Parts: sequence; structure tokens; C-alpha cells
Amino acid sequence: MANNIYLVGFMGTGKSAVGKEIARQLDRRFVDLDSLIEERQNRKISQIFAEDGEPYFRKVEKEVLKQTSAKRDLVVSCGGGIVLDKENIRIMKDTGTMVCLSASPEVIIARTRGYKHRPLLNVDNPEKRIKELLELRAPFYAQADYTIDTSDLSVSAVTNRILEYVEGKL
Ligand code: S3P
Repeated sequence: MANNIYLVGFMGTGKSAVGKEIARQLDRRFVDLDSLIEERQNRKISQIFAEDGEPYFRKVEKEVLKQTSAKRDLVVSCGGGIVLDKENIRIMKDTGTMVCLSASPEVIIARTRGYKHRPLLNVDNPEKRIKELLELRAPFYAQADYTIDTSDLSVSAVTNRILEYVEGKL
């Protein structure tokens, strides 16, 4: 049975921290798709965007998702834009559960401030960009099987809620 747990959601919603904790508690392997992409490409995400553009990055992202989804018993943290592709959503749903972490624009702005590794937020006005992207992506994130607002919750509280949700489905 398809039993992977895919964490999706906007940048800064806590996917990696929560994913690691879920994996630890379930004694599963944790996979960070962005790290896998960087390993395969032997360069940083920001370099991929700068040298080959976003469409190329999305192509590699889909390939890496396809390969990862062929395995089971994984907790997979996905890049924030993975949901923009219909086929990616289908792959995640066919091979597991798609859980979306959300947060308010203010919390995302605060959590992502000062980090320079996200090419989409390396702009003059990241606050405006975050709000625009959140609006644009809302219908895509809404396709998740379960959504949890992490704005006021600790990593362990978010983890516990997700574990309650997935219990019985694994
Ligand atoms: C992206 C999010 C990033 C990374 C890339 C694009 C996005 O991952 O995949 O910079 O489109 O939202 P995180 O959500 O892990 O920061």
C-alpha cells in the first residue's frame, strides 16, 4: 500500500523540522527533496535557478519526486512549489498522504527573513512577493489531504497533530 507522508506548503512553514520529527517518531527515513536535487545536480538550488532557470528546476524536481515516490515508508519534505504541477499532486496522492503546513504571511515573512538560499525571495520586496505567491498558490495547497496552520504551534505540537491524522492510514 502507498504509505509515504509528503509534507508540502509554503517556504518557512516548517516542513523540514516537522518532517524530521515525524520520521524520528515513526522510525522512518526522512527525505528532503531539495537536498536530493542539490546532490543530483551537484550545485545549490539558487545556482540551478540562476544558471538554468525555474522551468529547468521544476523538471528536475518532478524527476526526483518520481524516483522518490517509487519507495515506501518515507517522510518526504517537498519544496514549496511542488504543488504547482498537477502530475506531482497525483503522484503524491497515489503513493501516500499529502499534508500541507500553512502559516500566516507575517509568520512566513519573519521565518524567512535573513535567509538568502531561496531564489524566489531574493527580490527587493520579499514581503510583497510572499503575499503574491501565497495568493497564487492557495488553490494548489488546498488540494492536500490535511492542512495544519503552524503559525502558533511548536514543531512537536504540529508533529503530534499530523501523527494523529495519519494514524490508521499507514
Ligand atoms: C520553492 C521553495 C524552496 C525550493 C525552491 C523553490 C518554491 O523550497 O524548492 O527555492 O517555489 O516555493 P522550501 O519550501 O523548502 O524553501
